[in-house]
Amino acid sequence: MHADLERTLVTREQIAARVAEIGRQLAQDLAVDLGKDQDRGEDGDGGIVIIPVLTGALVFTADLIRQLPIKLSLRLVAISSYPGKSMESKGVKIASELPHDLAGKHVVIVDDILDSGQTLGVVRELIERQHPASVRCCVLLKKPESARKRHVEVEYVGFEIPDAFVVGYGLDYDGYYRNHPEIATLRLEVIK
Ligand code: IMP
Ligand code: MG
Repeated sequence: MHADLERTLVTREQIAARVAEIGRQLAQDLAVDLGKDQDRGEDGDGGIVIIPVLTGALVFTADLIRQLPIKLSLRLVAISSYPGKSMESKGVKIASELPHDLAGKHVVIVDDILDSGQTLGVVRELIERQHPASVRCCVLLKKPESARKRHVEVEYVGFEIPDAFVVGYGLDYDGYYRNHPEIATLRLEVIK
């Protein structure tokens, strides 16, 4: 373990097992949607769009999509909400253009963590305005309700964690530690 890290909250084995479970559930739920499309005589083929919120969702999404044995496409959205070394959300900045052809598609928004809810809240709202056939949010981690500044519907949650600042498996502090394979807290000296 890197010397800057303090304590492991979620191990790589726990992550792998949970990602496989979420993948199974999501694949099943999407199959039901596609079945309904077909019953209505629509060809839902290729209509599944996975949208990772970058950069944090990069690692989670890479693992999750390989648990989905279905035809899908990936569209990326880049958001920054913790600019620089700050650990508190200073509002959401959309750093890339959102996909704008999502009408009638089955959309799955993937993020690393639900904290204040501002990031997913904005992304979900903008995507819903395009009238997709369905929208689902999927996060690996969820902080307690007390962290929320905005309510947002999240259909799939990997792990509920305490209100602590965590890094690893895609999550960063000042751009670092995303490559750490587990979810861990940082030593206080590092954050100061
Ligand atoms: P929200 O908009 O406050 O819900 O924040 C969501 C975004 O903030 C996530 O996509 C993360 O990039 C970042 N974030 C929130 N909490 C943490 C944390 O504990 N560690 C690292 N990044 C975090
Ligand atoms: Mg992020």
